[in-house]
Amino acid sequence: MSNILVTGGCGYVGSMLVPALLADGHKVTTVDIMWFGNFLPDHKDLTVIKGDVREIDSIPMKGFDSIIHLANIANDPSCDIDSKISWEINVLASKFLIEKAIKNKVHQFIYASSGSVYGVKDEPEVTEDLDLVPISDYNKTKMISERVFLSYKESILVQIVRPATICGTSPRQRLDLSVNILTYSALKNGKIKVFGGDQTRPNIHMKDMIRVYQYFLSREDLSGIYNAGFENISIMDIAKMVTKHLPVGIEVSESNDPRSYRQNSDKLIATGFVQKYGVEDGIKEIIEAYKAGTLRDDDNCYNIKTMKKILTTA
Ligand SMILES: NC(=O)c1ccc[n+]([C@@H]2O[C@H](COP(=O)([O-])OP(=O)(O)OC[C@H]3O[C@@H](n4cnc5c(N)ncnc54)[C@H](O)[C@@H]3O)[C@@H](O)[C@H]2O)c1
Repeated sequence: MSNILVTGGCGYVGSMLVPALLADGHKVTTVDIMWFGNFLPDHKDLTVIKGDVREIDSIPMKGFDSIIHLANIANDPSCDIDSKISWEINVLASKFLIEKAIKNKVHQFIYASSGSVYGVKDEPEVTEDLDLVPISDYNKTKMISERVFLSYKESILVQIVRPATICGTSPRQRLDLSVNILTYSALKNGKIKVFGGDQTRPNIHMKDMIRVYQYFLSREDLSGIYNAGFENISIMDIAKMVTKHLPVGIEVSESNDPRSYRQNSDKLIATGFVQKYGVEDGIKEIIEAYKAGTLRDDDNCYNIKTMKKILTTA
């Protein structure tokens, strides 16, 4: 079993990933600034540190086998609030983190990039080798961080995942991601508002997202960049899937978000990874959690609301 450092372990993904790694028998340390709180359970093999990845001297590094780097300002509008801070966290900190990892002989570095690095793409099969057309600061910081990490690939195993938009529940809930928003909007407002609707986006269920990270941890023979997105569906089609479970109306208004791309994950699938969950599971999970009264809905479920408070009062 490994000793793993997870940055951003208190986020939407981290709050599901860290318990899964502990259940696998790993020892886990997480460093997180806790902008959205901390929902991680106490565990004898878990060390939770409230810290900032920009303060590299305060990040522990001795004795780790692997790093899973999730800590970023994690969507487009939040990165737009303060471009300088976004580049410092999402890119500059990446450089210092991997250099410290190499100095301390960490063996493996897994990075949560994003499928959004592709920007607008008309190709029906968006594979890892296509040119990137990042649009926002968020997409650009992800693209440049990938380059930074790859420049160290002779000194450390670098595995870069480009996840699609994730759906499903987590103790640190996000309700600002397409499947989650559309389902929650049907539940709360009795209707779904769709902006545009024609934009096609790939999706991945949270449980598969966690399985992808577990998979890379166990596959030290794999390196480089991998897409991780399985269902390319238009926003309108996701809304229609929701209405199969919740019979509500769909209202369409104009969108200012042009990002539209499909992801092809054949490279990952060819290595043996098998997708198990999908958008339908995400929709059902959100509905069940809502009905059970366990679905959180506060400002922290929307990254932009929390980040506006934090970055404009800093
Ligand atoms: N959620 C998605 O659909 C999705 C899709 C593609 C890629 N990703 C990427 O996966 C990663 C995790 O996403 P998420 O949805 O869990 O996001 P999130 O915002 O819920 O989690 C990010 C975590 O990083 C922490 N963090 C941010 N800046 C930090 C800093 N300077 N120092 C320490 N901690 C810091 C935050 O407090 C938060 O807990 C991110 O890098 C994101 O860009 C997410």
